[in-house]
Amino acid sequence: MANFEEIIISPSLLAADFGHVADDTTRVINAGADWIHLDVMDGNFVDNISFGPAMIEAVHATNDIFLDVHLMISRPDHYLPRFIEAGADLITVHVESNHDVADTLKRIRKAGVRAGITLNPATDISEVEPYLEMIDLLLVMTVVPGFGGQSFMAEMMPKVEQAARWRNERRLDYHIEVDGGIGPETAKIAAAAGANVFVAGSAIFGAPDMRAAVEAIRSARS
Ligand code: DX5
Ligand code: ZN
Repeated sequence: MANFEEIIISPSLLAADFGHVADDTTRVINAGADWIHLDVMDGNFVDNISFGPAMIEAVHATNDIFLDVHLMISRPDHYLPRFIEAGADLITVHVESNHDVADTLKRIRKAGVRAGITLNPATDISEVEPYLEMIDLLLVMTVVPGFGGQSFMAEMMPKVEQAARWRNERRLDYHIEVDGGIGPETAKIAAAAGANVFVAGSAIFGAPDMRAAVEAIRSARS
């Protein structure tokens, strides 16, 4: 069983300085990051292009931290083997992407990688319900995916609450992650709703003191 009481901080590398990705990764690990969140965008599923498997492989080659890969791409099924090969520890796919969701989740787990599912703000939480037994993590997007630095959508909290209710009622086993506009204050709101994994880009990489920023988010549930 995963420990849902444990707070996990997953800084998003999208907010790092792309000219110094290795340095920024080391800095954020030294600042207390538990995981590294890697936002993969294909310019089709979302209106932005970030990076692909080569970035995951480069981060994997330089340290041992848990790699939390968020695929914002139209065909996660097609590209899956490359992200597995690159060293992802967890791969989260969108329910809205063009794939057989159950099959993709099965393939992720079969490769010994943890499987996550996520949904856009406009998508109803019921869309992910058929997959709850096949996942290690449910990511509730708290912004429209595509760009860092957007404002947290508190109106997504009923989804977090529903995800926690299902987990409890059905004795299921998945982390609940939130992504978008997370900082110390919004993390508190999400933690109260039931989230335990916090993705943060600008609030960590944009902070003058990275360690203080990580700790401020970690204290969300104290
Ligand atoms: C949004 C990405 C997020 C983003 C978060 O499409 O999935 O992970 O990097 O950035 P902040 O924390 O700046 O909202
Ligand atoms: Zn993300």
